[in-house]
Amino acid sequence: MRQMILCVSIAAALGVAASGCQRSPSPADTPAAATPAAPAAAAEMIVDEHSYAEPDKVVTTDLALDLAVNFPGKQLTGTATYALDWKDPAAAMLVLDTRDLSIQKVEALASGGQWSPLEFALAGKDPILGSKLTIQAPMRPAKIRVTYATSPTASGLQWLEPSMTEGKQQPFMFSQSQQIHARSWVPLQDTPRIRFTYSAHVTAPKDAMVLMSADNDPAAARDGDYSFKMPQKIPSYLLAIAAGDLVFKPLGARSGVWAEPGMVDKAVTEFADTEKMIDTAEGLYGPYRWGRYDLLVLPPSFPYGGMENPRLTFATPTVIVGDKSLVALVAHELAHSWSGNLVTFATDKDAWLNEGFTSYVENRLVEALYGKEQADMENVIERDALAKEYLTLEPKLQVLALKPGDLADPDNSSSATVYGKGAWFLQWLEQQFGRPVFDAYLKSYFDRHAFQSMTTARLLKDMQDNLLAKNPGKVTPAQLEAWVHAPGIPADAPKTESRKFAVVSAARIAWQGSGTLPGKTVTAAWSTQEWVHFLEGMPDVLKPEQLAQLDEAYRFTGTPNGELAQRWYPLAERSGYAAARGEMGKFLERVGRRKLIMPTYKALTATPDGLAFARQVFARARPGYHPITTGSVEQAIAEAAPVSPAVAPATTPVAPAQPAAGLPAAEPAPRPKPGRPMQSARLPQELDPVDPAPTPPPES
Ligand code: BES
Ligand code: ZN
Repeated sequence: MRQMILCVSIAAALGVAASGCQRSPSPADTPAAATPAAPAAAAEMIVDEHSYAEPDKVVTTDLALDLAVNFPGKQLTGTATYALDWKDPAAAMLVLDTRDLSIQKVEALASGGQWSPLEFALAGKDPILGSKLTIQAPMRPAKIRVTYATSPTASGLQWLEPSMTEGKQQPFMFSQSQQIHARSWVPLQDTPRIRFTYSAHVTAPKDAMVLMSADNDPAAARDGDYSFKMPQKIPSYLLAIAAGDLVFKPLGARSGVWAEPGMVDKAVTEFADTEKMIDTAEGLYGPYRWGRYDLLVLPPSFPYGGMENPRLTFATPTVIVGDKSLVALVAHELAHSWSGNLVTFATDKDAWLNEGFTSYVENRLVEALYGKEQADMENVIERDALAKEYLTLEPKLQVLALKPGDLADPDNSSSATVYGKGAWFLQWLEQQFGRPVFDAYLKSYFDRHAFQSMTTARLLKDMQDNLLAKNPGKVTPAQLEAWVHAPGIPADAPKTESRKFAVVSAARIAWQGSGTLPGKTVTAAWSTQEWVHFLEGMPDVLKPEQLAQLDEAYRFTGTPNGELAQRWYPLAERSGYAAARGEMGKFLERVGRRKLIMPTYKALTATPDGLAFARQVFARARPGYHPITTGSVEQAIAEAAPVSPAVAPATTPVAPAQPAAGLPAAEPAPRPKPGRPMQSARLPQELDPVDPAPTPPPES
């Protein structure tokens, strides 16, 4: 029952096949059968395979945390108190998600106001889901309180020694809850189907500033005792906390930056356009509903580029490069204030409803602030990455609306699909209906579904009623069906071309033919995107002498530009260019952002010698990596086939596969995996230019 979706009948309404409706095997330790829902006419029973929670029986409406931050013990300890709305009069249990938590006691609030103990059972650990916590609550109390402690290895927290911070004086701690890591630092119903308000009281050493995805006060006294409120209802994956030597500087009336003292001024300069971005987004999609919009700059071990924690976007410092060339990241995380935080995917099968919509909005903001050419270049980079990933990506992961059971680990979705294809679909819709009609539709969609969970089926119904029916003759239900349920990219997807990239490709091709590199007058004005395009179009393997020539001219080895390092080191490794190894190792030790470093680890693990080097580097880097990054690197090393040098030379090229339907044939590509988010497909603009080309600020 748990795995069954009662597909409503949006499919019937649209006259299309309900291909998302089918049974699939349950995950290990599958929770007990869910209460059968009444067969409501237009209701959809949503099943989240990645949570044990039973929201049809009871939901959390408010969470109150009382936590102590223990740096030496690498632990959060305290209580979580849930205000509960019992939906099912027959329900007698509260089932929560946990991972590696130690649960000390569980209590219920009696009508007299006193707390009394409840029986509970913590199940064995499922490797992906964690441990189900079942609390016996036959009286269906209005509040339940759990006293607990986190594990020092909690998957959703990173504890950093002072040496791993910018200032090197104080320890640092931060959370990363998406997708299903909130359960490793708070026992809770960890599913985006449920939204709740929250408050928190947090104690910490006096010199540590504590921030949460809530009402951070820019003028808060650093006294080791902090209180927070998040009055808007949020899903669990947006719960966030950070503690460290953090100071605040304003960007505008309602935006600012939190960072370590040595980083904050650089961040203020880099993110100076933030207030303008908020205004632009509001102009397109309606008021920003979260009060303040602040950015928190984390240490370089942050495993992602950014995370849209409400009111406080978490960001990697690798975007702070002095020329604003990476601020699409801010556009992206800000865009989630509408697509994701306001209208939220109900389960991770529909992750594209968050990330695809957000990538579309991000591109619109980049276009509005920095011009069409900039937006086009970013688009082309995204599409090229998609074409490469789709050469080897299983068809079932190429559909926007994933079928139950097709995504075992929610950290392993295909970023090409979720981000790239999702955004492409919306660009196609924009083209069919025209910008004014589509913009008005999107704005009204965010309003109609504000603070609600969304599924692909609900979206299609909304589109049918509010877009297709009101603008007849433009788009057929079958076309929508193909976009969301079929693998590949429909043949009439809009193509984006970049004038600047044509020049870059011509220069690269000329070099491959003649050995003459583009002159400094040509490359001097190249932006990060153009350098990325230059490297991306290279064959899978070059001759070591060719790499040396490129290095001599452009000094790729040792580049501070993570986007270039991400592409240069794998090419160097595949090509047997040993001169890059030293700087490559330093890069892998310095940065923990998965997207930037995993391609290099993957290239290394393809040969026995590279694998040995990867193991050495990982041993040194590991203490500074986030658990999510550690997991990815461990997996890459474990998956490395035990092959002998005779069968796996360093320069084995990967044979190109057939492109998916509707896609152009791409050049031979490194073997992509179903991407952990951000690992392989997203190529946001980034970092410093390679010497000698100064990157001009993106056009405005
Ligand atoms: N919400 C994501 C990050 C995420 C996705 C974390 C899935 C865990 C699971 C965030 O908004 C994001 O997309 N970040 C990108 C930024 C980029 C698209 C500009 C990243 O981290 O690279
Ligand atoms: Zn995102």
